[in-house]
Amino acid sequence: MREGPATVIRREDYAAPAYWIRSVELTFDLDPAKTIVASRLTVERHADAAPGAPLVLHGDGLVLLRCLADGESVSFRQDDGLLVIDNPPDQPSFTLEIRNTCAPEKNTQLSGLYTSGGGFFTQCEAEGFRRITYFLDRPDVMAVYTVTLRADKAKYPVLLSNGNLLEQADLPNGRHMAKWHDPFPKPSYLFALVAADLVCREQRITARNGKEHLLQVHVRRGDLDKTEHAMNALIASVAWDEARFGLPLDLERFMVVAVGDFNMGAMENKGLNIFNTKYVLASPATATDDDFAGIESVVAHEYFHNWTGNRITCRDWFQLSLKEGLTVYRDQEFSMDMAGSASARAVLRIDAVRNLRAVQFPEDAGPMAHPVRPDSYSEINNFYTATVYEKGAEVVRMMATLVGRAGFRAGMDLYFQRHDGQAVTCDDFAQAIADANPGSALASHLGHFKQWYAQAGTPRLQARGSYNEAARRYTLTLRQSGAPSPGQPEKQPGLVPVLMGLVAADDGRALPLKLEGEAQATGTERVLVLTEAEQTFTFVNVEAPPVPSLLRGFSAPVTLDDGLDDAALLVLLQHDADAFNRWEAGQRLSLGRLLAALPGDADLPPLDDAYLQALRRVLRDDTLDPAFKDQVLQLPSEVYVAEVVGSEVNPQRIHRLREQLRGQLASALRDDWVWAFEAHQVREGYRPNAAQAGQRALANQALRMLVLDAVASGDTVWPGRAYQRFKDAGNMTDRFGALSALVDAQSPLAEPALARFHALFAGDDLVIDKWFNLQATANEPASGGGLQRVKALMQHADFSLKNPNRARALLSGFCRDNPAAFHRTDAAGYVFWADRVLELDAINPQLAARLARAMDRWRALAEPWRSAAREAVARVAAAPRLSDDVREIVTKALD
Ligand code: PHE
Ligand code: ZN
Repeated sequence: MREGPATVIRREDYAAPAYWIRSVELTFDLDPAKTIVASRLTVERHADAAPGAPLVLHGDGLVLLRCLADGESVSFRQDDGLLVIDNPPDQPSFTLEIRNTCAPEKNTQLSGLYTSGGGFFTQCEAEGFRRITYFLDRPDVMAVYTVTLRADKAKYPVLLSNGNLLEQADLPNGRHMAKWHDPFPKPSYLFALVAADLVCREQRITARNGKEHLLQVHVRRGDLDKTEHAMNALIASVAWDEARFGLPLDLERFMVVAVGDFNMGAMENKGLNIFNTKYVLASPATATDDDFAGIESVVAHEYFHNWTGNRITCRDWFQLSLKEGLTVYRDQEFSMDMAGSASARAVLRIDAVRNLRAVQFPEDAGPMAHPVRPDSYSEINNFYTATVYEKGAEVVRMMATLVGRAGFRAGMDLYFQRHDGQAVTCDDFAQAIADANPGSALASHLGHFKQWYAQAGTPRLQARGSYNEAARRYTLTLRQSGAPSPGQPEKQPGLVPVLMGLVAADDGRALPLKLEGEAQATGTERVLVLTEAEQTFTFVNVEAPPVPSLLRGFSAPVTLDDGLDDAALLVLLQHDADAFNRWEAGQRLSLGRLLAALPGDADLPPLDDAYLQALRRVLRDDTLDPAFKDQVLQLPSEVYVAEVVGSEVNPQRIHRLREQLRGQLASALRDDWVWAFEAHQVREGYRPNAAQAGQRALANQALRMLVLDAVASGDTVWPGRAYQRFKDAGNMTDRFGALSALVDAQSPLAEPALARFHALFAGDDLVIDKWFNLQATANEPASGGGLQRVKALMQHADFSLKNPNRARALLSGFCRDNPAAFHRTDAAGYVFWADRVLELDAINPQLAARLARAMDRWRALAEPWRSAAREAVARVAAAPRLSDDVREIVTKALD
């Protein structure tokens, strides 16, 4: 916390440090109240730096005990957390010894060294290491670490750090020690230690090259039976990275540790990944299919960082997407390969795009819009965003689309050949992929392509086609444009890969594609590469009037205006060879009905038969996978609808119309929902695989619709069946599906079910999080019981603001994921938001800043919400003590 404006850090100001740190020896005397850290650094002057240049080390919240250079005392000063040594020895290299203390049990920010559940854990990304000891805490300073841990043996029987265990011994007074050595030079943000009472699941594996490795998953006593899935995911990740990218595990030992208090999902510390329990612990009785899938992808993500992030790291934090975008791309590909079928891959792609649209598109249209490689920040923690992660992954995916699978592999190989062991930039990555693929569109238009790193905002793609029946020619004109974003009033054309096909309007067959001037058709699908503001593509020998199917598989993160009417969308929904675009056509038909009804305040008109028939046909089509049907029948979210509307957003109106659309679908397709529910019961034992999960998802959606329709019509049979299923379910997916169906429909059985659920899972933190979140996101009547319920839940004995999972489940659930309950006309939701942001800011600024972002899009709201929201944001901004984290968010929101 500081008074006054925060400093802004700019990418263009990057300069290499005056000193490097080559090796680090750390000794920890662990004590919750006061931990003593002794650090011995080998410091080497940068070749370009003047002899005797000042050495400036970062520090945050530390107490310095002593500082010696080459064994002699050296004069130093402390300046706003920094430790400045004005006259270090003027030799090329010297030793610096530092002793300091920190207070882990007081560390509620959960950055640096902190306690959780009676153990010690660290979190150093991005700038947490400076909260442990004084250091050049920046990612381009890479050192070899040797770490000695000393602690009470009874309380902390397990002592872990990065790399390999060198030595372990008992000490006097019931203490013990362990010494670890990590042979790989690493930046400080990848340092980790754990000292706790843990148990572990172990597995030995043999890599392709015959090397043996030990894999471990460490958890609290009692959780061991929930680690099998995480271990399987880890084993599969190791095998996949070797097979797909030729990247082996480089350590003898690879450890995963679960901790109950964690700000993010997980952290890729070298050889010692630390995870939020949410992404490790699962059993069929306590975790849903989505939880299982989340664990698989986060375990993979962190493991893949070992190469993309750790072996090659970021030069500075502006390059964050270098590791995050690439690693998200890799974990998405992994999950798709694990899911297997083309249809299962498409379902995962649909999920990714839904998420991009729900989170990244609003970010890119709001006050926090920033390029994938930002130009400035005041608090780096605010830039672990959907843009850096998910849009960053889309940028990597576009490269892969442009150079092909083998070309991308060649590019990755070149990237490692050039940069292994280095701290590099996004430019270095793009250059390696391009250089490995000379002659590709990426290589010839690299400059255009790199706009994706530089420009914020979601580009808009407009497409208009016309068919000349007599000449059998189809001309397609593509235009790209970009709206202004903060600091970027004008946008330049970039490179947009448009994967496309032409679908015959009459019978839906895929038409051969031949561009004017080409010798022969190149199949029925191809990539058009748009690099100008406007380009026209002429297809010849087009034998029938086509419907263009553009941006297949969402080949670029843009919004598409293709001007297609319902008739054309119905053709795509029924026939498109690309599953993603089939789904997209269905979404657009639903969206169109909502948007058309939005003006005024009449009810949604009765749905037309063509639309209902089309959805029914999908639901009943036995050539389609249940998971895909589930996606098609799922309506666009309220947040996405609001984003498409873009301005003068009335959240209550959107909610009401969407509810009416759901209600009509529930009733018009009632018999089909009954069939779907009954036909998709999984008879064999629970497995968290894509096939079973798809069946359960569709059955759960059907049940939800049946309960909704029953409650609306006063019928009690389906709510009763849902309650029964809730009680008897053999797994959490079905149990929670039934419970949410009751809550969603506001059935009178919802309350008893919620009470029973709580009693059944009392003490199981991750399940109790679900219980809080379900109520926070509950579909309450507009008259607004939602806020009252959330306020009451804050008083519940199980609630705590200090636990990030719990705080997120309730507060982000309500403020970010329940627009209809949050955006009240009396502004009480906004008042609640402001109070909670301020309250949380005093405990955990990172978490508070994330909650603060619930108001990003206040400008897009209609009155009276807009003014009330502004007032709430202004109140937070005017608070006397604010973290840099929250300050940056609210100041940008008001700009
Ligand atoms: N680097 C982590 C990941 O994406 C995320 C993270 C960032 C965790 C900062 C903690 C703190 O895998
Ligand atoms: Zn990551």
